[in-house]
Amino acid sequence: MSLSRTIETPEISGALGTVPTPRKHVLDLDDFSREEITEVLGSARGMKEVLGRDIKKVPALRGKVIVTLFYEASTRTRISFEEAGKVLSADVINMSASGSSAEKGESLLNTGLTIQAMGVDTIVIRHPHSGAPYLLAQHLDKVSVINAGDGLHAHPTQALLDLYTVQDKLGSLEGLKVVIVGDVLHSRVARSDIWGFAKMGAKVVLSGPATLMPPDLMRSSKNIARSHFASLVEVDTDLDRAIEGADVVMALRLQQERQNAGFLPSIREYIRRWQVTDDRLERAKPGAMVMHPGPMNEGIEISNSIAHGGSSVIEEQVTNGVAVRMALLYQLTIGPGQES
Ligand code: CP
Repeated sequence: MSLSRTIETPEISGALGTVPTPRKHVLDLDDFSREEITEVLGSARGMKEVLGRDIKKVPALRGKVIVTLFYEASTRTRISFEEAGKVLSADVINMSASGSSAEKGESLLNTGLTIQAMGVDTIVIRHPHSGAPYLLAQHLDKVSVINAGDGLHAHPTQALLDLYTVQDKLGSLEGLKVVIVGDVLHSRVARSDIWGFAKMGAKVVLSGPATLMPPDLMRSSKNIARSHFASLVEVDTDLDRAIEGADVVMALRLQQERQNAGFLPSIREYIRRWQVTDDRLERAKPGAMVMHPGPMNEGIEISNSIAHGGSSVIEEQVTNGVAVRMALLYQLTIGPGQES
């Protein structure tokens, strides 16, 4: 089956290129093929060209309605989805749990059904419970659902923007060594990034305190049967060793409450062993990129000089997030039979 069809709308065809593979929802990356990821990254490239114009506006989603439904705090994801929708001329409505009828006890499902009844095309949801976007996708037949982060489970749009950022800088993802360091156990970003980077042929190495590595991955090092997820990665709790020859080093946010929960000996010890610093980066490949999904605890998981130094692509990740989310909104909203 052909992966794409040509758009005929003249004012956008140059930038956006093609109508991508039909897909109704984006819930995680585990059901994306390599071809589909490649297609999203290619579409995002066209979207980035739109974002570079003096007038950042194309009529691709004119007449479409997107609701961002956030039950958790967000700066990057929520604003970038809003910007993405607006650049594509969709009407974007932002809803937080705070101030909504969720505060009166309305269930997530009834909230979703209510939004669907208003004729909305796409719901972008962030929720503290893993699986919340799946619930909506299962029960709402007229809207597309995009997972903007669910519990500890997944953050697929973050992973796609991370893939885009690396591919944009290094040309290809195949064969790269990507080191993800920090609190992998509680990181939905890490879980989606592992799927994405591994699917695209990169080698993923996780580093951090053993207590913050997913237990199935730690068991695998003791020759207990590995899950498919575990088979995608290696774990090396010694960051100085793990970082050797890395093309990409991604630091994850350390939630300081983990210390009270007994996951860490102390923040000082964490900084000493796992902070991404100039000295440690010397061990990586020359020109290695440093990433962070944000928000950062500067001076804890990443030094100030690295966070704002020449190897950091953290701000580019944010910029690319808008382009990648434009590509996804476009793909989901202009599905088969939906062109105007
Ligand atoms: N990376 C990320 O999800 O950031 P926000 O929480 O600010 O959206």
